[in-house]
Amino acid sequence: METTSIRPFPEGFLWGASTSAFQAEGAAHEDGKGLSVMDVRVQDPSITNYEVASDHYHRFREDVALMKEMGLKAYRFSIAWTRIFPEGNGEVNQKGVDFYNELIDELVAANITPIVTIYHFEYPQGLIDQYGGWLDRRSIDDYVNYASFLFRTYGDRVKYWLTVNEQDHVVHMPFRIGLQKGDVKVTKKAGFLANHNMCVAAAKAIAACHEIVEGGKIGPAVCFDMMYPTSNKPEDGLAWLDAMDIRNYYVLDMNVHGEYNGVFRKYLEDRGWMPEIYPGDMELMKANKPDFVAFNYYASKSVSAYPTDDEHKMGEIVGDLLPETDPGVFRVVKNENLKATLWGWEIDDVGLEGVCRILWDRYRLPLLITECGFGNKETLPEDGMVKDDDRIDYLSRHIKAVQRSMNVGVPFIGFCAWSFMDIISGHSGFSKRYGFVFVNRDEHDLKDLKRYKKKSFGWYQKVIATNGASLDE
Ligand code: BG6
Repeated sequence: METTSIRPFPEGFLWGASTSAFQAEGAAHEDGKGLSVMDVRVQDPSITNYEVASDHYHRFREDVALMKEMGLKAYRFSIAWTRIFPEGNGEVNQKGVDFYNELIDELVAANITPIVTIYHFEYPQGLIDQYGGWLDRRSIDDYVNYASFLFRTYGDRVKYWLTVNEQDHVVHMPFRIGLQKGDVKVTKKAGFLANHNMCVAAAKAIAACHEIVEGGKIGPAVCFDMMYPTSNKPEDGLAWLDAMDIRNYYVLDMNVHGEYNGVFRKYLEDRGWMPEIYPGDMELMKANKPDFVAFNYYASKSVSAYPTDDEHKMGEIVGDLLPETDPGVFRVVKNENLKATLWGWEIDDVGLEGVCRILWDRYRLPLLITECGFGNKETLPEDGMVKDDDRIDYLSRHIKAVQRSMNVGVPFIGFCAWSFMDIISGHSGFSKRYGFVFVNRDEHDLKDLKRYKKKSFGWYQKVIATNGASLDE
């Protein structure tokens, strides 16, 4: 809808940027850190050097100084579970505890609000070895014990907490829950069991946060792609509704409403994937709602109906990471109206406006964007400044989309761009860069890891300094 005016960003809007531990810190085997699934199952050393990442563990003071220079109001990062509890439970590793104390102190001294993700993909391998990790109910108590330790240790300074990063992706990726890639039907059943246990664990962590952290606010950080039906055929419209229910809403429906939505439940039951619900599970979720909905947004997807036939049977999902074809439900189709990144992610700021409105309409909780960014291949020019105009354009459009949604009543806590500096991509090594700050290394040649401000650094600095007004210049 066109409007005649647009409200400025409110005072106190959290202009932020994000990273995660395994992607930024490095020091993968230092100071007593234990192994996570990312260390042992996901990271292929032939792709890149993961052990050093961006060396944030050793250079965090320099990085926070850059954040301060940029004027960041918030920094969203994750704590590596296995730095705190190397085995996932049991003995605490004091050196890991100290590292995050120092990082948080540094942020607070720089007037930057820390937003902490409790668990960002790095599940302790120790818990997989002990009892199979998220597939066992013991995982719930170990997660809550770990989260409660964080609340007690850092809760005097950290008031924003994120329970699980992209649970909706994690459960579709066998290696992230400690399984080998195998029979899709087996791994999906396991994934949705893990999903249930994570929701119970998150509800308990929400309760613990509210009890332990004075003024603490906590919520999930899901990935939420905008979706569209590919045509005005009624069956494509219905496939879109189904895809929204079973791909986008299901985790938040459990976190916020304490329920399996009807389409998702039937989808799981028909395929034999419905996990056992223990007495009290859903009541626990209902009683412990998040304070906000945080989400990561990168792109949109278009779907059309995909009926089963002799060759494409129910449950025979195809898609390396996330289902791209799900017989009997939908298939993802290229959107010819949108440009895409080098990795095929369809760029769609209008879609972000839609997502903001959808999330507010369905959950009535304030929103926080924890990731949004443009991945690109970049090299350091002679003058030392990467001219990342495409990133500036992407971020500018997406931030304006947030503003448009706020203009029609969606309440927002803040916007955290992905990522503060170049870090290891979730799937594509170091060649896929997202940062405002260039980190001087290649996949295997670690060079000097020196930091260089990109053009977008100054651009975002101005956006923050003018509280968004410079976006209209
Ligand atoms: C999200 C993750 O899935 O997207 C991040 O929370 C990840 O960890 C980001 O880096 C971008 O994905 P990728 O694969 O481009 O790094």
